[in-house]
Amino acid sequence: MSEDSSRHTRTALVTGATRGIGFELAALLARDRYDLVLVGRNREQLSQNARQLESQHGIRVRVLAKDLSASNAADGIVDALRADMVGIDVLVNNAGFGWNGRFVESDLAEQLSMIQVNVTALMHLTRLLLPAMVARRSGRILNVASTAAFYPGPMMATYYASKAFVLSFSEALAEELRGTGVTVTALCPGPTRTGFQARAGMGNSRRVKSLFVMDAATVAAAGYRALHNGKRVCVPGVLNRLMTMFARILPKAAVLQILRNLHKR
Ligand SMILES: NC(=O)c1ccc[n+]([C@@H]2O[C@H](COP(=O)([O-])OP(=O)(O)OC[C@H]3O[C@@H](n4cnc5c(N)ncnc54)[C@H](OP(=O)(O)O)[C@@H]3O)[C@@H](O)[C@H]2O)c1
Repeated sequence: MSEDSSRHTRTALVTGATRGIGFELAALLARDRYDLVLVGRNREQLSQNARQLESQHGIRVRVLAKDLSASNAADGIVDALRADMVGIDVLVNNAGFGWNGRFVESDLAEQLSMIQVNVTALMHLTRLLLPAMVARRSGRILNVASTAAFYPGPMMATYYASKAFVLSFSEALAEELRGTGVTVTALCPGPTRTGFQARAGMGNSRRVKSLFVMDAATVAAAGYRALHNGKRVCVPGVLNRLMTMFARILPKAAVLQILRNLHKR
């Protein structure tokens, strides 16, 4: 996207901007002179990111340290924006995490927290920020789903199901919003080198790593292009696109077996 001197007054909010794909997306927005609101739990890291992006790009960066697994987090974010009279032009719902293992052995509180962060907070923030975008007839939303959104994922059941929600919700919303000036894009990365695997307890995922792992900057760049082109679904990487295509052709039983083996611990 070309730089435009009017862009500096536009503001983008990125959840999960501490590191990984979210930080790379924030850096791309900063390069295009969007002011930023960075959301995540780690205030110190977010503040460090804010200082870096402000000094590199001469933009204004606000930090909102929020735990999106709290049910009032989205309300808290929007209250803080209102108090500062900040409007949001671009919403990037990126924060998310997974857990690898048998659902029956999972920690229930963590599974519920995953639904809250990956699904509920994304939907909640979108619902709160969307009306102003529609009223302005301008806005862009990027929801980070996953290739996991395309099929059920044994050994990561809740995570895959949460991303299926994100993809379905995003595509439906994109259609509802057709002609309003507001676009919705679902970014569906495959395995990406970030802190995600460690947090999900995927220490055993060498099979995935060796196959088609991408770096966070490349994934973010693909998502950013899709966002600005108003594309509805973006699967970065040829291998990931092939994989999602094959998964639709193969019998579901075979796909379930393959994924179960891929994620077995
Ligand atoms: N890496 C992959 O292989 C992969 C593949 C497909 C999709 N994805 C998706 O990509 C998105 C970004 O993940 P990533 O790969 O960049 O992983 P990451 O490096 O672990 O980053 C996750 C981000 O989400 C934030 N976050 C997690 N829990 C949070 C909470 N309770 N409240 C607020 N923020 C929270 C983290 O910030 P704090 O720790 O500061 O809270 C961090 O900034 C996620 O939605 C993930 O599902 C990743």
